[in-house]
Amino acid sequence: MHNLPTFCLFLFFLFSLFHNLSCASSENELGWCQAKFQCGNITAGFPFSGGIRPKVCGHPLLKLQCLNNITSLFLSNQEYSVLHIDQTSNTLRLYRSEFLGSFCNTTFAATTLPPEIFELSPNYKNLNVFYLCDPKLSYRSSNPCPGSGIVSVTQNLDYQNSCQGSFTINVPKSFVPEEKKLNLTHLESALREGFEVKVKIGEEACQECLSSHGICAFENTTQVCCKEDSSPRCNKLHLPDANELHKLYSQPFSCGDQEELLYPFWIPSREGCGHPNFQARLYRRIRRA
Ligand SMILES: *[C@@H]1O[C@H](CO)[C@@H](O)[C@H](O)[C@H]1NC(C)=O
Ligand SMILES: *[C@@H]1O[C@H](CO)[C@@H](O)[C@H](O)[C@H]1NC(C)=O
Ligand SMILES: *[C@@H]1O[C@H](CO)[C@@H](O)[C@H](O)[C@H]1NC(C)=O
Ligand SMILES: *[C@@H]1O[C@H](CO)[C@@H](O)[C@H](O)[C@H]1NC(C)=O
Ligand SMILES: *[C@@H]1O[C@H](CO)[C@@H](O)[C@H](O)[C@H]1NC(C)=O
Repeated sequence: MHNLPTFCLFLFFLFSLFHNLSCASSENELGWCQAKFQCGNITAGFPFSGGIRPKVCGHPLLKLQCLNNITSLFLSNQEYSVLHIDQTSNTLRLYRSEFLGSFCNTTFAATTLPPEIFELSPNYKNLNVFYLCDPKLSYRSSNPCPGSGIVSVTQNLDYQNSCQGSFTINVPKSFVPEEKKLNLTHLESALREGFEVKVKIGEEACQECLSSHGICAFENTTQVCCKEDSSPRCNKLHLPDANELHKLYSQPFSCGDQEELLYPFWIPSREGCGHPNFQARLYRRIRRA
């Protein structure tokens, strides 16, 4: 019984050791959010993480990896190779890594990008690949892959009930699959060209944070603004939802000596007018609508 206090003390010591360690490491990590991910030709900052850019600096689904100067991203357990990241337009071009090999040898799994993060760029489209189709369909399809039966690549879902399997792919809008006999070389080169997506997590929500010398970070999927003083403190960033946006832009407001202003008059002078928390975000949403 007499060794209980020692035991408690030991636990306490361990606890405080770990506690200090974890505080110190998150403080250091935050300081590193200025660092960019770098791999071959590709450079990436917010909202990505990876390489020397710590996990807390990016969205958990946007963790980049670098191998032999090739950047990749894992989404829904599939590897995508990143061809280009444009941080001004917030877009990236990628292709499913397995499409580097023969199409017939791929897993026949869908290209599923989390819709809360990515939006397919307007120059690209989804196509459906149907396989193990009813041989009666053979007048509009072919049997290019051994073991996959009749395969058809189409934009519509007409074959849904005549085929045992299907998945989606993203291709350039200009790609038109052959109606009668699928040209695998043609399809494979379209798939390797990749597709472009827009990343929906913008830096707008973080502008105020940055201008008050905060650090834009993530707690899981939530965007937070952290202050790096003695101990890092992070506050959730306020992102307006659709209701708030509606309320905001349906209400008149005044700016300078002008009163009863309504959307969109605040846009040209948005530096000085409008609600500071919402203006940039609001501008973007409306423009897209
Ligand atoms: C770098 O970019 C150039 C042209 O943009 C491209 O030809 C080259 O393959 C790229 N290199 C790597 C390692 O990605
Ligand atoms: C990666 O690129 C750098 C500079 O472009 C080059 O020096 C290096 O050899 C490349 N590494 C690999 C594994 O290709
Ligand atoms: C598919 O992979 C197998 C073994 O991995 C290989 O023997 C075959 O040639 C490949 N098929 C094509 C069309 O590349
Ligand atoms: C298949 O596509 C490739 C690349 O687009 C093209 O060069 C080739 O001529 C096509 N083959 C046939 C049989 O149409
Ligand atoms: C992150 O989210 C996952 C799932 O929503 C949850 O299980 C996990 O506890 C969260 N982690 C933190 C650090 O909040």
